[in-house]
Amino acid sequence: MLNFDYRNPTHIVFGKDRLGEIDALVPSQARVMVLYGGGSVKKFGTLKAVTNALGKRYVVEFGGIEANPRYDTLMRAAHIAKAENIDFLLAVGGGSVMDGTKFVALATHFDGDAATLLWDGTAAIDDRKVLPLATVATLPATGSEMNPFAVVSHARGKFGLRHPQCYPQFSVLDPTLTFTLPKIQVANGVVDAFVHICEQYVTYPVDAKVQDRFAEGLLRTLIEIGPKALANPEDYDTRANLVWCATNALNGLIGTGVPQDWATHAIGHELTDRFGIDHGQTLAVVMPALWRVCLADKQQKLLQYAARVWDIHEGTDKERIEAAISKTCEFFQSLGIHTRLRDYGVAQQDVDAIVTALQNHNMNKLGEHQHITPEVSQQILSSAW
Ligand code: NZQ
Ligand code: ZN
Repeated sequence: MLNFDYRNPTHIVFGKDRLGEIDALVPSQARVMVLYGGGSVKKFGTLKAVTNALGKRYVVEFGGIEANPRYDTLMRAAHIAKAENIDFLLAVGGGSVMDGTKFVALATHFDGDAATLLWDGTAAIDDRKVLPLATVATLPATGSEMNPFAVVSHARGKFGLRHPQCYPQFSVLDPTLTFTLPKIQVANGVVDAFVHICEQYVTYPVDAKVQDRFAEGLLRTLIEIGPKALANPEDYDTRANLVWCATNALNGLIGTGVPQDWATHAIGHELTDRFGIDHGQTLAVVMPALWRVCLADKQQKLLQYAARVWDIHEGTDKERIEAAISKTCEFFQSLGIHTRLRDYGVAQQDVDAIVTALQNHNMNKLGEHQHITPEVSQQILSSAW
């Protein structure tokens, strides 16, 4: 096992009928900005419940954060937050709203051009100037409710950031808030969580038994409950398990002391950026192709994945791995998610432009061994077509 530090400061408030507790969790004198997306939380009453819980506090609402949150929108929020002397941010929504809120937290009092945080990283930030934030999560997928990451879209591309102050102070995870999700968002979320686990598990073995068994348990849980979550949107127990599974897929725990990949995400971000394909769907296209192309690097863990996640024990090594990859694709497809690039209207000749975009974003050595050069990305994308 590799050396690691682990600390996750987010207070999880899990279960139904808990939105009222926000009153006790937000400082009583806080000037709060409540951030939300395109309106689902307005339509379904979550926003009202949150503002009610905030009681007499000074509250500014900022709506309109789009899926794949845009830098310009977030900077508008940051300017208002500064002008209004906001000292607490509350995100109410999915990954895009939570990530967007994290960026607002970083940008509001940043001295200088906040866009540079996207391409230069967050090292220049004075921690004391980052606004505290919390979330009410409405979509189980990204794990943003319990991690320090944010992904922001800009004219120059889709950029990932991380900062220790971006862990939410608390996150309310009420599975009933997910009942209103469109089927496609539930499916996207299952795939996103599944791939987060694989990015930290399908690499090479380091004898990390706890992390491996935990990852396998989460994967098997998603395989079991994914179809049920789609078929029975108001089955509380299924949604409760889905929500907690997605959070654990990317809250750092299964990634402790193990090598991590993240090439599927890097390539997927270019597909979202260029073609607007939903995040989860980009991953369903890239990961199986990446596994086939990078089979030599991942062979041992793919065999372990085949045996322990899919109960595949018969056949040669190659046959078992291929069977596991096929099972993975079938699982995604059973949720209504296509697994080939051409299914999303991307032309075969577009592959070159995606590879160029990767190069422009310095994504030239991806994967747990940094073996995924632009040439390998080209192979992955061509075979994913
Ligand atoms: O905008 P509204 O009207 O709220 O509608 C949203 C949006 O259209 C809707 N929705 C959310 N909760 C709902 C609901 N509709 C009905 N009922 C509810 N309860 O769902 C749509 C998609 O929302 P979005 O937040 O964009 O989805 P998701 O949670 O999948 O987030 C995707 C974003 O997260 C980033 C992705 O790159 C993408 O930008 N990621 C963030 C990560 C992180 N912070 O750790 C890691 C991930 O790998 C990912 O990259
Ligand atoms: Zn993801």
